Amino acid sequence: MNIAIIGTGNVGGALATNWSKKGHSIFLGVQNLEKFKGIALLSNPNTKALPVREAVSQADVLLIATPPTAIFEILGQLGEVSGKVIIDATNSVRQAPDPYKTVYHCLADKTSAEVVKCFNTTGFENMLDPVYQGVGIDMFMAGDSEKAKSVATQLALDAGFGSCIDFGKSDKVELLEKFALSWINLAIMQGQGRGIAFKLLRR
Ligand SMILES: NC(=O)c1ccc[n+]([C@@H]2O[C@H](COP(=O)([O-])OP(=O)(O)OC[C@H]3O[C@@H](n4cnc5c(N)ncnc54)[C@H](OP(=O)(O)O)[C@@H]3O)[C@@H](O)[C@H]2O)c1
Repeated sequence: MNIAIIGTGNVGGALATNWSKKGHSIFLGVQNLEKFKGIALLSNPNTKALPVREAVSQADVLLIATPPTAIFEILGQLGEVSGKVIIDATNSVRQAPDPYKTVYHCLADKTSAEVVKCFNTTGFENMLDPVYQGVGIDMFMAGDSEKAKSVATQLALDAGFGSCIDFGKSDKVELLEKFALSWINLAIMQGQGRGIAFKLLRR
């Protein structure tokens, strides 16, 4: 796939790295080509940096991994995105993109893209290495677009996750952010550390 990574920090960098190794073409959409977090990603295979608008034009899949409130500036640079898949990996834990509850809701309202919330429920270290004792941990997703969910599932598997579990439609997007907050609570506030992950077990 041709993937634009908007937000090339902890989360965008981890996923860009794993997807590039799987043979996907990565277009880092950055604000300043000379100086941006994740500039070292340029040594990954199949990876180049472009202004946000140009990265989006090259891609059929977009990952948004920025602070949530950056979405308003990014919206002005997206251009035509109908038919493209946008994966929202943000969490509005500290600040929501007011008046929207989440970036997913903003994108669903302001664009005609296929939107999915995914890659928000665990720490970036787990996105870089999602394998514990030889077992891939789970990723989770929510949203109304089946096409976007199918792409997110493939990209979760390509990143090394064991599976990508469907949390439900757009009415479950906020629950998925609460689920992310549950990981943050355990890892940080309750002191379990960032080397923890969720996996659904079945009988
Ligand atoms: N950290 C985690 O473990 C984790 C886990 C799950 C979800 N999340 C969520 O993922 C998002 C990113 O977190 P992070 O830790 O990866 O952040 P980060 O390392 O601080 O990276 C943020 C990135 O966003 C870019 N950015 C900011 N404003 C932008 C704009 N207007 N246009 C384009 N790019 C812009 C920054 O670019 P510059 O380099 O140019 O400043 C930087 O590359 C947040 O919403 C967070 O809640 C984080």
